[in-house]
Amino acid sequence: MSSKFAPLKNDTFLRALLRQPTEYTPLWLMRQAGRYLPEYNATRKRAGSFLGLAKNPDYATEVTLQPLDRYALDAAILFSDILTVPDAMGLGLYFAEGEGPKFERPLRDEKAVLALQAPDLGTLQYVFDAVTQIRTALNGRVPLIGFSGSPWTLACYMVEGGGSDDFRTVKSMLYKRPDLMHHLLKTNAAAVAAYLNAQIDAGAQAVMIFDTWGGALADGAYQQFSLHYMREVMAQLQREKDGVRIPAIVFTKGGGLWLEQIADIGADAVGLDWTVNLGEARARVGERVALQGNLDPVVLFANPEQIRAEVNKVLASFGTPQAGTGHVFNLGHGISQFTPPEAVSVLVEAVHDISRSMRKA
Ligand code: CP3
Repeated sequence: MSSKFAPLKNDTFLRALLRQPTEYTPLWLMRQAGRYLPEYNATRKRAGSFLGLAKNPDYATEVTLQPLDRYALDAAILFSDILTVPDAMGLGLYFAEGEGPKFERPLRDEKAVLALQAPDLGTLQYVFDAVTQIRTALNGRVPLIGFSGSPWTLACYMVEGGGSDDFRTVKSMLYKRPDLMHHLLKTNAAAVAAYLNAQIDAGAQAVMIFDTWGGALADGAYQQFSLHYMREVMAQLQREKDGVRIPAIVFTKGGGLWLEQIADIGADAVGLDWTVNLGEARARVGERVALQGNLDPVVLFANPEQIRAEVNKVLASFGTPQAGTGHVFNLGHGISQFTPPEAVSVLVEAVHDISRSMRKA
């Protein structure tokens, strides 16, 4: 079956995820469209707010393409947010200036949790419209990544009502009312699967699940309350569109200790933060999954020589990818809003150049 979109000119990222040979190590950056770019800040100003950007497919398309116009990145990522899903479930997402995301109606009691339902996907149509519009505008330059939060990470924001230092409210619910927590996570898992499948239908060529707060859980709780529900999502995902494989990436920040278990839930690739040695990670997962990561984002505040040296360390720790393995270069978490844009040029060139010469050696 053929697709209504232009054929891909650069599929290096998809091949690395599928553990096929590549001429160099592809890269993209978590939060590559964002406040470190002056052109992003200019568009955001015109849109009035972050949500004004994210909810308007024209603006979302514009900012998604901005980092690609500056840098030779190997993938685009949908400009949106993981919190669009709980917003569509009726929790009322807003951004207090300088405070990060918040919900007007967090889930604080049994009644609120039991009343929760997977969202009507129609209320998220602006996301799917953005996906189609971005894929069309990309015109085959690079693949487009769709994404969602993990059921657990969404639950953290839904119960806390915003960010948290210790996740006291959501973890108290987990320990005191595991039945309620499972009910919430089951609802979220169904919502996330439907949301990702709709992004794939709209044109996403790979999908990623961000489990930003899985690492806040105790061993044992992680498997029961985060990993289990990501496995449920993976089981419900469509993995092919128009005859083409749609790779899935899972990323638990702080999940390095559980790598083998994460590699076992059916994803094509596992994202890693900077606490993990990629060579050891590769030995632990063998040919089960590709790996994505894992430069410390703060390296981008060092000087060009130092950035190149740190890039070299990450590439060398993975080693030259052999048949059956794959590496996608990324940061271990999102790029800081204070990053000098020139540092990203140094990074992109270093990853491409060094990884090409490693393959020739
Ligand atoms: O990577 C990209 O370029 C795509 C866009 C993207 C955003 N959020 C845009 C955004 C993606 C993939 C996300 C995911 C997301 N959102 C996660 C998971 C990834 C991670 O970082 O761990 C989480 C936990 C969120 C929730 C969220 N949204 C937070 C905590 C914040 C505040 C962050 C901050 O730095 O202030 C947001 C807002 C947000 N989402 C911004 C952007 C560019 C900054 C908003 C602004 O312009 O004011």
